[in-house]
Amino acid sequence: MDRSNAGLLLGLLLLQFNRCLALGGGDAAEGGGVFPVVVSTWPFREAVRAAWEVVAAGSTGGSAVDAIVAGCSACEVLRCDGTVGPGGSPDENGETTLDALIMNGTTMEIGAVASMRYVKDGIKAAKLVMEHTGHTLLVGEKATAFAISMGLAGPTNLSSPESIEKWSNWRQNHCQPNFWKNVVPAGNCGPYYPINVNPVHRTIGEIQGWLQSGNLLEPTDSHLKSVINRHNHDTISMAVIDKMGHVAVGTSTNGATFKIPGRVGDGPIPGSSAYGDDEVGACGATGDGDIMMRFLPCYQVVESMRRGMEPRDAAMDAISRISRKYPDFVGALFAVNNKGVHAGACHGWTFQYSVRNSSMEDVEVITVTP
Ligand code: GLY
Repeated sequence: MDRSNAGLLLGLLLLQFNRCLALGGGDAAEGGGVFPVVVSTWPFREAVRAAWEVVAAGSTGGSAVDAIVAGCSACEVLRCDGTVGPGGSPDENGETTLDALIMNGTTMEIGAVASMRYVKDGIKAAKLVMEHTGHTLLVGEKATAFAISMGLAGPTNLSSPESIEKWSNWRQNHCQPNFWKNVVPAGNCGPYYPINVNPVHRTIGEIQGWLQSGNLLEPTDSHLKSVINRHNHDTISMAVIDKMGHVAVGTSTNGATFKIPGRVGDGPIPGSSAYGDDEVGACGATGDGDIMMRFLPCYQVVESMRRGMEPRDAAMDAISRISRKYPDFVGALFAVNNKGVHAGACHGWTFQYSVRNSSMEDVEVITVTP
């Protein structure tokens, strides 16, 4: 082989290598169907069936917004994967709080609640914000007060025997793993101090020496990074296109297990966990919300489809934008365009999403490998 042929071969190999990297997020794509369409993260069949019953009913069908509420509410009642609704993902204080969002893709109105305490109905609270206020997002106890004043049940203890047991075991394990970084703990479970905050005690060694010789508690062993998986970082993200072609999306989650109190995930962040527009289609996401919300992946997907990308390419592109910066991130999303064509992409785990459209007898679950 002469030098010019060798150069050509090397160029082709590099091209192929780069393309493999770009496809590293994993993907799946499926053909379109006839409206209505319901798509949901994970094999949440009962949630999709509940949404389908609303959106497929009668000759005109229910609205996409009402179907989203039915579908996400079903998951909240069923406590899907322990990460939706009450009774899961205790925070550092053992409390369960809820994040939820709903978006009307016709009007682009959004309602969301974040870190909401003492009310079980996350998606219904989000819909009340959307339909009865000029706001988009209410948080914490003020979201609780709003939801109860608008007729939702509460105040209710959102803990369950399972969430309390999980939290007790975590406490016994010196509160490991957790979400702190660059801190020194004053005890097995905190409080935690920033390493550089005290000008006199700048290094971990110095601070630990100071703590051991001082009045504060023993320092802990090194902190373990939380492992992200489906049972501690999950979201139902759902998209519905109704018989009139109207798009709605919604999410509901109790966030991340052992989160620092006050933490809000991607669930109630528009464009991160979900986004939709009648003119284009919709997207739903799940995974490590602390990372994913930095990229607004669902906004990215919808805008990529608006510019002409197929759902599969848009989903892959949004995932790869995150994985390029965070190679260890764990997350997934689905995309569905306004013709009903859907696709998924994931990174760091095997993802499944559920679909029902009028060409199907029942919910179909699609597996996407990383
Ligand atoms: N995706 C759920 C969360 O991180 O809160």
